[in-house]
Amino acid sequence: MNSKLKGKHFLTCEDWSKEELDLVFETSFDLKDKFKKEIPTRILPDKTLFMIFFEQSTRTRNSMEAGMTQLGGHAHDLTEDKMQLSHGESAKDTAIILSRMGHGIASRNCFYGIGRKYLQEMAKYSTRPVMSLQDDVYHPFQGIADLMTIFEYFGKNTKNLKVTISWAYADTHSKPLSVPQSQILLFPRYGIDVTVAHPKEFPLNKNIVNKAFENAKVGGGSLRFTNDMDEAFEGAQIVIPKNWGGFGYYDVDEYLKNESECKKEMKSNLEKYKDWICDDHRIKLADRNVKLMHALPADRGHEVTNEIIDDPNISIVYDEAENRLHTAKAIMSLTM
Ligand code: CP
Repeated sequence: MNSKLKGKHFLTCEDWSKEELDLVFETSFDLKDKFKKEIPTRILPDKTLFMIFFEQSTRTRNSMEAGMTQLGGHAHDLTEDKMQLSHGESAKDTAIILSRMGHGIASRNCFYGIGRKYLQEMAKYSTRPVMSLQDDVYHPFQGIADLMTIFEYFGKNTKNLKVTISWAYADTHSKPLSVPQSQILLFPRYGIDVTVAHPKEFPLNKNIVNKAFENAKVGGGSLRFTNDMDEAFEGAQIVIPKNWGGFGYYDVDEYLKNESECKKEMKSNLEKYKDWICDDHRIKLADRNVKLMHALPADRGHEVTNEIIDDPNISIVYDEAENRLHTAKAIMSLTM
Protein backbone atom coordinates (compact mmCIF):
# COMPACT_ATOMS: atom_id res chain seq x y z
CA MET A 1 0.00 0.00 0.00
CA ASN A 2 1.38 3.39 -0.95
CA SER A 3 0.69 5.19 2.30
CA LYS A 4 1.95 8.47 3.71
CA LEU A 5 1.77 6.74 7.09
CA LYS A 6 4.44 4.18 6.18
CA GLY A 7 6.95 3.94 9.02
CA LYS A 8 4.77 5.81 11.54
CA HIS A 9 4.73 4.40 15.07
CA PHE A 10 1.37 3.57 16.63
CA LEU A 11 1.93 4.00 20.36
CA THR A 12 -1.13 6.13 21.05
CA CYS A 13 -3.91 7.71 18.97
CA GLU A 14 -2.74 11.00 20.48
CA ASP A 15 0.15 11.01 17.96
CA TRP A 16 -2.25 10.59 15.04
CA SER A 17 -4.26 13.47 13.56
CA LYS A 18 -7.99 13.15 13.02
CA GLU A 19 -7.37 12.93 9.25
CA GLU A 20 -4.93 10.06 9.80
CA LEU A 21 -7.39 8.25 12.07
CA ASP A 22 -10.18 8.79 9.53
CA LEU A 23 -7.99 7.03 6.96
CA VAL A 24 -7.54 4.14 9.45
CA PHE A 25 -11.33 3.80 9.76
CA GLU A 26 -11.85 3.97 5.99
CA THR A 27 -9.20 1.26 5.53
CA SER A 28 -10.68 -0.86 8.34
CA PHE A 29 -14.16 -0.81 6.78
CA ASP A 30 -12.72 -1.68 3.37
CA LEU A 31 -10.69 -4.60 4.81
CA LYS A 32 -13.73 -5.83 6.76
CA ASP A 33 -15.84 -5.78 3.63
CA LYS A 34 -13.19 -7.73 1.69
CA PHE A 35 -12.79 -10.22 4.56
CA LYS A 36 -16.55 -10.91 4.51
CA LYS A 37 -16.50 -11.36 0.73
CA GLU A 38 -13.33 -13.48 0.93
CA ILE A 39 -11.50 -11.10 -1.39
CA PRO A 40 -7.73 -11.53 -0.84
CA THR A 41 -5.89 -8.55 0.64
CA ARG A 42 -2.20 -9.43 0.23
CA ILE A 43 -1.01 -5.92 1.02
CA LEU A 44 2.08 -6.99 2.98
CA PRO A 45 3.43 -10.00 1.04
CA ASP A 46 6.49 -11.64 2.64
CA LYS A 47 6.69 -9.03 5.41
CA THR A 48 7.52 -9.91 9.00
CA LEU A 49 6.08 -8.51 12.22
CA PHE A 50 7.74 -9.27 15.56
CA MET A 51 5.26 -9.33 18.46
CA ILE A 52 6.62 -9.38 22.01
CA PHE A 53 4.07 -10.13 24.72
CA PHE A 54 5.06 -9.54 28.35
CA GLU A 55 1.47 -10.48 29.33
CA GLN A 56 -1.29 -12.83 28.21
CA SER A 57 -3.61 -11.96 25.34
CA THR A 58 -6.38 -13.54 23.30
CA ARG A 59 -7.79 -10.75 21.08
CA THR A 60 -4.65 -8.72 20.53
CA ARG A 61 -2.34 -11.64 19.81
CA ASN A 62 -4.75 -13.34 17.42
CA SER A 63 -5.97 -10.22 15.62
CA MET A 64 -2.36 -9.28 14.85
CA GLU A 65 -1.18 -12.75 13.90
CA ALA A 66 -4.25 -13.65 11.82
CA GLY A 67 -4.15 -10.14 10.38
CA MET A 68 -0.55 -10.51 9.20
CA THR A 69 -1.36 -13.88 7.60
CA GLN A 70 -4.37 -12.41 5.81
CA LEU A 71 -2.22 -9.52 4.57
CA GLY A 72 0.26 -12.00 3.08
CA GLY A 73 2.96 -11.69 5.72
CA HIS A 74 3.93 -13.47 8.92
CA ALA A 75 3.96 -12.56 12.61
CA HIS A 76 6.36 -14.03 15.17
CA ASP A 77 4.59 -14.64 18.50
CA LEU A 78 7.34 -13.89 21.02
CA THR A 79 7.34 -13.78 24.81
CA GLU A 80 9.99 -12.54 27.20
CA ASP A 81 11.06 -16.07 28.18
CA LYS A 82 11.78 -16.99 24.53
CA MET A 83 14.15 -14.06 24.13
CA GLN A 84 17.33 -12.67 25.69
CA LEU A 85 15.08 -10.06 27.29
CA SER A 86 14.85 -12.58 30.11
CA HIS A 87 18.61 -12.14 30.58
CA GLY A 88 18.29 -8.36 30.56
CA GLU A 89 18.89 -7.48 26.88
CA SER A 90 17.92 -3.84 26.41
CA ALA A 91 14.92 -2.46 24.55
CA LYS A 92 17.36 -0.50 22.39
CA ASP A 93 19.35 -3.54 21.20
CA THR A 94 16.18 -5.59 20.73
CA ALA A 95 14.56 -2.87 18.63
CA ILE A 96 17.60 -2.23 16.42
CA ILE A 97 18.13 -5.91 15.70
CA LEU A 98 14.49 -6.82 15.05
CA SER A 99 13.99 -3.81 12.83
CA ARG A 100 16.93 -4.98 10.67
CA MET A 101 15.34 -8.42 10.28
CA GLY A 102 11.72 -7.52 9.63
CA HIS A 103 9.24 -4.77 8.88
CA GLY A 104 7.48 -3.97 12.17
CA ILE A 105 7.65 -4.48 15.93
CA ALA A 106 4.66 -4.71 18.26
CA SER A 107 4.70 -5.20 22.00
CA ARG A 108 2.45 -5.47 25.05
CA ASN A 109 4.03 -4.35 28.28
CA CYS A 110 1.52 -3.21 30.91
CA PHE A 111 3.77 -2.97 33.98
CA TYR A 112 2.77 0.22 35.77
CA GLY A 113 5.35 2.97 35.32
CA ILE A 114 7.38 0.75 32.94
CA GLY A 115 5.38 -0.38 29.88
CA ARG A 116 4.95 2.92 28.04
CA LYS A 117 8.60 3.87 28.64
CA TYR A 118 9.71 0.49 27.27
CA LEU A 119 7.74 1.00 24.06
CA GLN A 120 8.99 4.56 23.67
CA GLU A 121 12.55 3.30 24.01
CA MET A 122 11.98 0.71 21.27
CA ALA A 123 10.37 3.34 19.03
CA LYS A 124 13.37 5.64 19.53
CA TYR A 125 15.75 3.06 18.08
CA SER A 126 13.63 1.03 15.66
CA THR A 127 13.89 1.89 11.98
CA ARG A 128 10.52 0.17 11.48
CA PRO A 129 7.12 1.10 12.91
CA VAL A 130 6.58 0.16 16.57
CA MET A 131 3.02 -0.58 17.69
CA SER A 132 1.68 -0.68 21.25
CA LEU A 133 -0.34 -3.80 21.89
CA GLN A 134 -1.25 -2.19 25.26
CA ASP A 135 0.91 -0.57 27.88
CA ASP A 136 0.29 0.95 31.28
CA VAL A 137 -1.07 4.18 29.79
CA TYR A 138 -2.59 3.44 26.36
CA HIS A 139 -4.29 0.65 24.41
CA PRO A 140 -4.60 2.33 20.99
CA PHE A 141 -5.73 -0.76 19.05
CA GLN A 142 -8.63 -1.18 21.49
CA GLY A 143 -9.60 2.48 21.14
CA ILE A 144 -9.91 2.35 17.36
CA ALA A 145 -11.77 -0.99 17.36
CA ASP A 146 -14.22 0.50 19.88
CA LEU A 147 -14.82 3.57 17.76
CA MET A 148 -15.27 1.50 14.59
CA THR A 149 -17.94 -0.52 16.42
CA ILE A 150 -19.67 2.67 17.56
CA PHE A 151 -19.73 3.90 13.94
CA GLU A 152 -21.32 0.61 12.85
CA TYR A 153 -24.15 0.88 15.36
CA PHE A 154 -24.70 4.63 15.58
CA GLY A 155 -23.41 5.97 12.26
CA LYS A 156 -20.33 8.09 11.63
CA ASN A 157 -21.86 11.28 13.01
CA THR A 158 -21.31 10.61 16.69
CA LYS A 159 -21.85 14.19 17.88
CA ASN A 160 -23.52 14.18 21.31
CA LEU A 161 -23.73 10.39 21.54
CA LYS A 162 -23.91 9.58 25.26
CA VAL A 163 -21.26 7.05 26.30
CA THR A 164 -20.74 5.98 29.91
CA ILE A 165 -17.47 4.38 30.93
CA SER A 166 -17.86 2.99 34.41
CA TRP A 167 -15.43 1.31 36.74
CA ALA A 168 -16.82 -2.07 37.83
CA TYR A 169 -15.82 -4.65 40.41
CA ALA A 170 -13.68 -7.64 39.36
CA ASP A 171 -11.65 -10.13 41.34
CA THR A 172 -9.36 -11.42 38.56
CA HIS A 173 -6.29 -9.15 38.50
CA SER A 174 -5.47 -5.44 38.64
CA LYS A 175 -6.25 -4.40 35.09
CA PRO A 176 -4.31 -1.50 33.53
CA LEU A 177 -5.77 2.00 33.14
CA SER A 178 -5.01 1.96 29.44
CA VAL A 179 -8.43 1.01 28.03
CA PRO A 180 -10.55 3.72 29.71
CA GLN A 181 -7.73 6.26 29.23
CA SER A 182 -7.57 5.57 25.49
CA GLN A 183 -11.37 5.84 25.27
CA ILE A 184 -11.66 9.17 27.13
CA LEU A 185 -8.95 10.64 24.92
CA LEU A 186 -10.35 9.37 21.63
CA PHE A 187 -14.15 9.47 21.87
CA PRO A 188 -14.52 13.23 22.55
CA ARG A 189 -12.37 13.95 19.46
CA TYR A 190 -15.36 12.57 17.55
CA GLY A 191 -17.93 14.73 19.35
CA ILE A 192 -18.98 12.06 21.83
CA ASP A 193 -20.26 13.07 25.29
CA VAL A 194 -18.41 10.82 27.73
CA THR A 195 -19.35 10.26 31.37
CA VAL A 196 -16.85 8.42 33.57
CA ALA A 197 -17.92 6.87 36.88
CA HIS A 198 -15.49 5.48 39.42
CA PRO A 199 -15.04 5.16 43.19
CA LYS A 200 -12.72 7.81 44.57
CA GLU A 201 -9.84 5.35 45.08
CA PHE A 202 -9.88 4.32 41.39
CA PRO A 203 -9.18 7.52 39.44
CA LEU A 204 -7.60 7.73 36.00
CA ASN A 205 -4.27 9.48 35.50
CA LYS A 206 -4.58 13.26 36.04
CA ASN A 207 -2.50 14.26 33.00
CA ILE A 208 -4.55 11.99 30.74
CA VAL A 209 -7.78 13.45 32.12
CA ASN A 210 -6.55 17.00 31.49
CA LYS A 211 -5.58 16.08 27.92
CA ALA A 212 -8.98 14.44 27.40
CA PHE A 213 -10.71 17.69 28.44
CA GLU A 214 -8.59 19.53 25.83
CA ASN A 215 -9.50 16.93 23.19
CA ALA A 216 -13.19 17.40 24.01
CA LYS A 217 -12.90 21.15 23.50
CA VAL A 218 -11.30 20.69 20.07
CA GLY A 219 -13.47 17.76 18.98
CA GLY A 220 -16.82 19.12 20.11
CA GLY A 221 -17.49 16.32 22.60
CA SER A 222 -17.60 16.54 26.37
CA LEU A 223 -16.28 14.76 29.42
CA ARG A 224 -17.61 14.59 32.96
CA PHE A 225 -16.85 12.54 36.06
CA THR A 226 -19.01 11.16 38.84
CA ASN A 227 -18.62 8.74 41.76
CA ASP A 228 -22.19 7.45 41.29
CA MET A 229 -22.62 4.49 38.93
CA ASP A 230 -26.43 4.77 38.86
CA GLU A 231 -26.34 8.43 37.91
CA ALA A 232 -23.75 7.72 35.18
CA PHE A 233 -26.05 5.11 33.59
CA GLU A 234 -29.05 7.45 33.31
CA GLY A 235 -29.86 8.01 29.64
CA ALA A 236 -26.61 6.45 28.37
CA GLN A 237 -26.73 5.14 24.80
CA ILE A 238 -23.61 3.02 25.32
CA VAL A 239 -22.36 1.65 28.63
CA ILE A 240 -18.86 0.27 29.15
CA PRO A 241 -18.61 -1.27 32.63
CA LYS A 242 -15.04 -2.32 33.21
CA ASN A 243 -12.65 -2.85 36.06
CA TRP A 244 -9.32 -1.08 36.34
CA GLY A 245 -6.74 -1.16 39.10
CA GLY A 246 -6.27 1.67 41.59
CA PHE A 247 -2.92 2.69 40.06
CA GLY A 248 -4.10 6.25 39.38
CA TYR A 249 -4.48 6.79 43.15
CA TYR A 250 -0.69 6.85 43.43
CA ASP A 251 2.09 8.86 41.98
CA VAL A 252 4.12 6.50 39.71
CA ASP A 253 7.35 6.92 41.74
CA GLU A 254 5.47 6.39 45.01
CA TYR A 255 3.89 3.22 43.57
CA LEU A 256 7.19 1.79 42.31
CA LYS A 257 8.88 2.51 45.65
CA ASN A 258 6.11 0.90 47.77
CA GLU A 259 4.63 -1.56 45.29
CA SER A 260 3.61 -4.30 47.73
CA GLU A 261 1.93 -1.85 50.15
CA CYS A 262 0.11 -0.10 47.30
CA LYS A 263 -1.11 -3.46 45.98
CA LYS A 264 -2.37 -4.40 49.44
CA GLU A 265 -4.23 -1.10 49.76
CA MET A 266 -5.66 -1.44 46.22
CA LYS A 267 -7.02 -4.86 47.14
CA SER A 268 -8.67 -3.65 50.32
CA ASN A 269 -10.16 -0.64 48.47
CA LEU A 270 -11.50 -3.00 45.81
CA GLU A 271 -13.49 -5.03 48.32
CA LYS A 272 -15.55 -1.94 49.25
CA TYR A 273 -17.15 -1.76 45.81
CA LYS A 274 -18.56 -5.22 45.06
CA ASP A 275 -21.90 -3.65 44.15
CA TRP A 276 -20.39 -1.80 41.15
CA ILE A 277 -21.87 -4.16 38.55
CA CYS A 278 -23.77 -3.61 35.31
CA ASP A 279 -27.01 -5.45 36.14
CA ASP A 280 -30.66 -5.33 35.19
CA HIS A 281 -31.42 -2.45 37.59
CA ARG A 282 -28.68 -0.26 36.11
CA ILE A 283 -29.28 -1.14 32.46
CA LYS A 284 -32.90 0.01 32.94
CA LEU A 285 -31.62 3.46 33.91
CA ALA A 286 -29.93 3.81 30.51
CA ASP A 287 -31.52 4.67 27.16
CA ARG A 288 -34.02 2.01 26.08
CA ASN A 289 -31.84 1.14 23.06
CA VAL A 290 -28.63 1.06 25.10
CA LYS A 291 -25.68 -1.02 23.88
CA LEU A 292 -23.12 -2.71 26.10
CA MET A 293 -19.47 -2.63 25.11
CA HIS A 294 -16.49 -4.27 26.82
CA ALA A 295 -12.91 -4.75 25.61
CA LEU A 296 -13.00 -8.32 27.02
CA PRO A 297 -12.11 -10.50 28.78
CA ALA A 298 -15.14 -9.71 30.96
CA ASP A 299 -15.37 -10.75 34.58
CA ARG A 300 -18.87 -12.19 34.26
CA GLY A 301 -20.99 -11.91 37.39
CA HIS A 302 -18.80 -9.12 38.75
CA GLU A 303 -18.36 -6.43 36.05
CA VAL A 304 -21.56 -7.38 34.24
CA THR A 305 -24.24 -10.05 34.67
CA ASN A 306 -24.44 -12.98 32.24
CA GLU A 307 -28.00 -11.93 31.31
CA ILE A 308 -26.81 -8.57 30.00
CA ILE A 309 -23.57 -9.56 28.28
CA ASP A 310 -25.43 -12.45 26.60
CA ASP A 311 -28.43 -10.33 25.54
CA PRO A 312 -28.11 -9.91 21.74
CA ASN A 313 -30.33 -6.82 21.83
CA ILE A 314 -27.91 -5.08 24.20
CA SER A 315 -24.46 -6.58 23.95
CA ILE A 316 -22.18 -5.76 21.01
CA VAL A 317 -19.01 -7.13 22.61
CA TYR A 318 -18.35 -9.75 19.94
CA ASP A 319 -18.55 -7.20 17.12
CA GLU A 320 -16.17 -5.05 19.13
CA ALA A 321 -13.75 -7.98 19.51
CA GLU A 322 -13.99 -8.87 15.81
CA ASN A 323 -13.19 -5.30 14.87
CA ARG A 324 -9.82 -5.73 16.57
CA LEU A 325 -8.90 -7.80 13.47
CA HIS A 326 -9.98 -5.26 10.86
CA THR A 327 -8.45 -2.27 12.63
CA ALA A 328 -5.20 -4.17 13.31
CA LYS A 329 -4.97 -4.98 9.60
CA ALA A 330 -5.59 -1.33 8.74
CA ILE A 331 -2.81 -0.06 11.00
CA MET A 332 -0.34 -2.69 9.75
CA SER A 333 -1.22 -2.08 6.07
CA LEU A 334 -0.80 1.66 6.44
CA THR A 335 2.41 1.69 8.49
CA MET A 336 4.46 -1.37 7.47
N1 CP B 1 -9.09 -6.46 24.77
C1 CP B 1 -7.87 -7.07 24.76
O1 CP B 1 -6.83 -6.41 24.61
O2 CP B 1 -7.94 -8.41 24.86
P1 CP B 1 -6.67 -9.37 25.08
O3 CP B 1 -6.08 -9.02 26.43
O4 CP B 1 -7.20 -10.76 25.03
O5 CP B 1 -5.68 -9.09 23.99
